[in-house]
Amino acid sequence: MVNQPLSGPAQDPVRHLFRAGNQDLAPILLLHGTGGDETELIGLAELVAPDHPVLAIRGRVNENGMNRYFNRFALGDFDLESLEEESTWLLAEIRRLAAHYQLDLTKMIVMGYSNGANIGLHIYMSRSTDFAGVVGLHAMQLTSVTDDLQNLTGQRVFLSFGEHDQIVSENNFNQLKENLERSGCQLTIFQNAGGHHLTQTEVNAVKEWFDTTTKDKD
Ligand code: MLT
Repeated sequence: MVNQPLSGPAQDPVRHLFRAGNQDLAPILLLHGTGGDETELIGLAELVAPDHPVLAIRGRVNENGMNRYFNRFALGDFDLESLEEESTWLLAEIRRLAAHYQLDLTKMIVMGYSNGANIGLHIYMSRSTDFAGVVGLHAMQLTSVTDDLQNLTGQRVFLSFGEHDQIVSENNFNQLKENLERSGCQLTIFQNAGGHHLTQTEVNAVKEWFDTTTKDKD
């Protein structure tokens, strides 16, 4: 039987949100979780990076009314063709909107939660980008990254993992961690006994990481 994606046709045009902030500071790119939209992580950006320019882009895939960045056949069963197609689309939109709003991509920090963290990290690990770092909240390894793994030496990545996450298994998280370690990036991991949700302690850890990362880049 051929698997049918859970999603309907892709939506257009690109839905996004931009908050100008102080253009001298590192821009933040926000990528939401399944069922979220471009406003979902604004509160996080306000806590972690007040005054920084913020760009948030909505995933254009619709799964039974829920926005996502790529199709899946079932929980944890991903449509890898859609992942590649939507990664190409998203990266092109990030570049187009960054040019439009005059954002410096080499200073940009990507912050994604769940589905948004997954595509953000997938792009960062497998394609050539100029991003300064990625925050992957409750992210998982979508596909085994082998030959196309980018050299991320000197780049900074923050990952979070909940030991009781019903979506991200420990095994899967360890694969993601190993791939990132192979890429040569400087990895910071926040782990707690929680599930797939964000916690205040986690947000505090992101802020600490963010302050150090952006200070070093100035
Ligand atoms: C994904 O589809 O990226 C993961 O299952 C997480 C999620 O459901 O958003």
